[in-house]
Amino acid sequence: MKIVKIIAIVLLVAFVGIQFMPVERNQSDGVPKIDFMLVNDVPSDIKNKLKVSCYDCHSNNTKYPWYNKVQPVAWFLEGHIKEGKAELNFNEWDSLSSRRKVSKLRSIIKQIESGEMPMDSYTLIHKEAAFSEEEIQQVIKYMENLKDSL
Ligand code: HEC
Repeated sequence: MKIVKIIAIVLLVAFVGIQFMPVERNQSDGVPKIDFMLVNDVPSDIKNKLKVSCYDCHSNNTKYPWYNKVQPVAWFLEGHIKEGKAELNFNEWDSLSSRRKVSKLRSIIKQIESGEMPMDSYTLIHKEAAFSEEEIQQVIKYMENLKDSL
């Protein structure tokens, strides 16, 4: 019993300790004119869904409610933001050529259709980011139409 108590105390101290370690925040002022939502006429329900489900990792602005600030969640998220933005940054959408947009849209459709995005580790905490079957169809239809218009 004593050893369990000691381990619990050590873990607690470590948990409190890591809260003080610095973390980079993905935050910037304003939304650039080349943002996906500004250059495309996106219906408001799809806009909201993408903002809630994708923008934390695929834009220059992450929302930081308290649970995103708690370690180790914040570190985990930071890593995903770096990788996610490198693949796709909705804030910089219009900097892509038409050809690259088409290929990104294909990739977006594939990721949502297969349920790979948003990541499970994310929807576990951010319940509102998960997609219903209906939302999947809705967003995919929109992305398909956009792709065909390019
Ligand atoms: C928790 C962070 C996170 C969220 C939320 C998230 N992504 Fe990602 N996304 C990543 C990471 C990390 C990668 C790169 C690694 C990978 O492919 O798994 C990525 C990769 C991608 C790629 C490129 C995949 C490829 O291999 O070509 C697309 C497209 C994508 N995400 C779309 C989305 C869409 C659409 C949403 C919202 C429905 C979303 N993501 C939500 C983190 C995230």
